[in-house]
Amino acid sequence: MRKLIVAANRLPVTVSMRDGQYQFRPSPGGLAVGLSCLPDSLERLWMGWPGVSSERLTPEDKDRIRESLRQQNSAPVFLSQRQIDQYYLGFCNKTIWPLFHYFPVRTVFEQQFWKAYRQVNHLFCEELLKVAEPGDSVWVHDFQLMLLPRLLREKMPDLTIGYFHHIPWPSFELFRLLPWREEILDGLLGADLVGFHTYDYVRHFLSSVSRISGLEHTLGEVNAHNRILKVDAFPMGIDYNRYAGAIDDGEVKAEIDRIRGIVGERKIIVSVDRLDYTKGIVERLEAFDWFLSTHPEYKGQVTLIIVAVPSRSGIEDYKQLRGHLEQLVGRVNGEHGSIGYMPVWYLYRFMPFKKLTALYNAADVALITPLRDGMNLIAKEFVATKNGGPGVLILSEMTGAASELGEALTVNANDKTAIVRAIQEALEMPLAEQCERNRVMQERLKRYDIVRWSTDFIHALNEIGVRQQGVSVHKLGPAARETLVRQYQTADKRLFLLDYDGTLVGFQGRPAKAGPDEEILMLLNRLTQHESNCVAIISGRDKDTLEKWLGSLPVHIIAEHGGWLREFGESWRSFQPVNEQWKHAVKPIMDLYSDRTPGSIVEEKDFSLVWHYRRADPTLASVRTHELRDALVNLTENMDVGVFEGSKILEVRKHGVNKGRAAEFLLARQAWSFVLAAGDDYTDEEMFAVLPETAYSIKVGSNVSKARFNVDTVMDLRNLLKQLVGS
Ligand code: G6P
Repeated sequence: MRKLIVAANRLPVTVSMRDGQYQFRPSPGGLAVGLSCLPDSLERLWMGWPGVSSERLTPEDKDRIRESLRQQNSAPVFLSQRQIDQYYLGFCNKTIWPLFHYFPVRTVFEQQFWKAYRQVNHLFCEELLKVAEPGDSVWVHDFQLMLLPRLLREKMPDLTIGYFHHIPWPSFELFRLLPWREEILDGLLGADLVGFHTYDYVRHFLSSVSRISGLEHTLGEVNAHNRILKVDAFPMGIDYNRYAGAIDDGEVKAEIDRIRGIVGERKIIVSVDRLDYTKGIVERLEAFDWFLSTHPEYKGQVTLIIVAVPSRSGIEDYKQLRGHLEQLVGRVNGEHGSIGYMPVWYLYRFMPFKKLTALYNAADVALITPLRDGMNLIAKEFVATKNGGPGVLILSEMTGAASELGEALTVNANDKTAIVRAIQEALEMPLAEQCERNRVMQERLKRYDIVRWSTDFIHALNEIGVRQQGVSVHKLGPAARETLVRQYQTADKRLFLLDYDGTLVGFQGRPAKAGPDEEILMLLNRLTQHESNCVAIISGRDKDTLEKWLGSLPVHIIAEHGGWLREFGESWRSFQPVNEQWKHAVKPIMDLYSDRTPGSIVEEKDFSLVWHYRRADPTLASVRTHELRDALVNLTENMDVGVFEGSKILEVRKHGVNKGRAAEFLLARQAWSFVLAAGDDYTDEEMFAVLPETAYSIKVGSNVSKARFNVDTVMDLRNLLKQLVGS
């Protein structure tokens, strides 16, 4: 890896203007803190939004900001106020954030927001391309930039691109609500590696990819646009030693003493979050209220300190939350407090590291109960700060961190009585047990810390980058392409054997919809205009459809994988007699499976029966395919037919009917001096197998193939044909 470019909405520092002066402050949220710990040995550049709108900046201001960020290996992507409103406050925080945190009712679906989101992702892409060089890797962060991997891939296909998603990836049931779900997934499918905090999010993502993009995975690897995309879990850690060692700092010690001096013997429960409705701060305060009501003996004995870090305050939901919380703090204090005892201390502010770790240290209990949270690093920070000492973590099951911190008291954040019980248990837990639970968690946090997290990710990214190069070994590169064009130009008898679906045109959910577009008709027409060219379309489709779609072209057409042939100017004839006897036994079984698998259909052709399941639920279809294949193989054992599995189909076809036979027939007609065959699936392999060595066989896609070369997409093949007819 030459250098690593980190692209994230936030830079590690946020710029703000006060009294005409810039201020640089650490950005809120775990990401900024986390990435500041990447190993120094790696040359890197961080790109992101500096946090201030560009209208407020003169060109000189921008230069100055650029310069001071440059000294911190960072570069700004400036956003206008409109972009901040519609992309950041809009699409990111009113659409994706609530939806991905399981708050569909708070989710706003607004076309303008989506447009701005796309625009800003393009802007990031442009800025990044100014600094990216061949051999670089890009690490894109979080939900604000989900389109960026694809945009970069299109402009610089050889970049190694990683993406890490810091928030939950919701179940397909939630994700499907998004009107722009296909585009978002396609954006991410441009990456080489996509990482999540937990395996549950990995599962949800893969399920969305399968159900929406129609791409299956094998052990977390998806073949997306003929590249491997690896999807895996990398639970983000913290800078363990920094938190564990905080206690050694004189200022931290003094702050702990100061807090203790004020609180005295009372127990402290601490609650720290960005002020966000996903964090369940109101719900936890209500639980504390309930705790004091049901355990009056604790009145005067325990103080809850709530630190709420200001965040996204331009959004109405966040403003309301703040108002609601402040009201509730007032009510709880009014109800349970007395002179000299304030049950809840509420601090609405950013808390610098030393003050924060002093507070963690002074606290007896941390009450961290988000309703939903991608990871939650606060929980980890609290445990790390308690290095060797007591302290109890109460943690919501709905956080990513809960899967690593099993020794905490885990609660369902919606269950107030469970939180009340946990508070009591925490306050009464023997110190030895507290220390023991913490010790186990500390060991884990120490091992899988932030450096390990980032190096693991980068390592996996490098690995996949290397494998990706292996995949492209048989690509029809510029040199081979040049030879191909030269041989075409000098040859006088040229044969083209072209498969149709997935080769000349892309796949459609319903096979009947994949009719030829104008471009392909024009291209085939031009190809046939040259008198030295003989073009054969060699497809698995039925003859009537092919006749309807391509009948007017001066081409030979082979239908049903070689069952039927229509030479140009002649009528259809079959390669072998049609015998439909076997279908009486096979069709009822296929029909039964089609009825039991919504979305699947049975297609009947003269020489075959095909069960298509492209539009069926993929999980159900995969179970059904196994069952149906077993049933069919047993049933057809003594029949003159074979059972074949193709791209989202299961086919029973007459023996001896295949594209290989049909290709041989055409190959034998003349001494061809140039042969080009192209196809994309298993039926085309039979055609590739019978070609002479000098023929150009081209696979559309990168799966293992007998073809000599491969191109990535239908478009790539069309471009090659365009080049030939243009020459
Ligand atoms: C979460 C998100 C981050 C975000 C942070 C702070 O941790 O995953 O992407 O930066 O919150 O939110 P903000 O909107 O202030 O950037």
